[in-house]
Amino acid sequence: MGYSAENYRTVKELLDTRRAEAVKESERRRAELHAKSPEVAEIDRALRKTGMSLFRAACMGGKDAEPFLRVMAENKALLESRAELLASLGLPSDYTEVHYTCPLCSDSGYVDINMCTCMKRELTLAAFRSSGLGSLLEKQTFESFSLDYYRAEPQNLRLMERTLAVAKEYAAGFSMRAGNLIFFGRTGLGKTHLSTAIAREVILRGYDVRYDSLPNILSDFEFDRYKSSYKDDTPRGEKYLSCDLLIMDDLGTEVVNQFTLSCLYNIINTRLCAERPTIISTNLGEDMLQERYNDRITSRLLGEYRPLIFVGEDIRMQKLQ
Ligand SMILES: Nc1ncnc2c1ncn2[C@@H]1O[C@H](COP(=O)(O)OP(=O)(O)OP(=O)(O)O)[C@@H](O)[C@H]1O
Ligand SMILES: [Mg+2]
Ligand SMILES: [Zn+2]
Repeated sequence: MGYSAENYRTVKELLDTRRAEAVKESERRRAELHAKSPEVAEIDRALRKTGMSLFRAACMGGKDAEPFLRVMAENKALLESRAELLASLGLPSDYTEVHYTCPLCSDSGYVDINMCTCMKRELTLAAFRSSGLGSLLEKQTFESFSLDYYRAEPQNLRLMERTLAVAKEYAAGFSMRAGNLIFFGRTGLGKTHLSTAIAREVILRGYDVRYDSLPNILSDFEFDRYKSSYKDDTPRGEKYLSCDLLIMDDLGTEVVNQFTLSCLYNIINTRLCAERPTIISTNLGEDMLQERYNDRITSRLLGEYRPLIFVGEDIRMQKLQ
């Protein structure tokens, strides 16, 4: 459970690069400054010496000894002259310090043994990118989901109020024991919108979420099936089995054949056995599900998934009018 290993690696690499670049940039500034001002170069050499003496004295525990205090004073004077020289060049006194993007963790990603907030933020952004939802995560949120579109029929409104309430509750209380949802409803009624809203909340809580349409998911498994011909590629289907929450959109729009059926069964069954939550959306009704899929699939969808019903008038059309 939690951040995907791949995203973790990507973020660690990003922070390592940031850190290395910050150090390189400070070295570049120092070299440039030394070329411009030999006095500063001289002071920096002297500072290295006083620094070493202070370090040795501190290691020997002689903090109050007279020579220690003398070096301290010398060090302080050197720093003051250095700051003055820098000021005369129009530069701040910390010009050659390393400027990390995150001063809290010096771009290491950790403060003591705890993950720094900057790393958590980067992991969330990486999870947004790898979720497969892209910019929809910003647009299709719970806040932008309006019940006004369902008001024409009071009974539709009541059903959709319940659907929204269950979706919000599911997202807010998400854990690996949250169970599965299946969204039933005709086109343009908000199934993908609510799936995205749930995905966003769940990612923000630190879970690895994957979203895609079933045809796309199946084509990744198809790719793996023939991958002997493209040897170097890593398996593409594995992420759908191992992620914390899988959102499988548009069930019913895929081509049905022996391969796609066994793949679909495998995804559903593997995730159920491993207790990994899944959300499925479909335009099909229950009867059509039973017509299209074998009992091994439908009995799982109808028995292990909590149904949420989407009703009303196509919101894409309502928005056009
Ligand atoms: N309740 C709502 N409030 C605001 N916008 C909505 C709402 N429901 C849907 N929309 C918007 O309407 C469009 C269609 O919704 P969505 O894609 O969620 O439909 P869908 O049920 O997934 O349809 P399909 O079955 O065709 O995939 C999207 O742009 C979505 O953001
Ligand atoms: Mg949809
Ligand atoms: Zn940090």
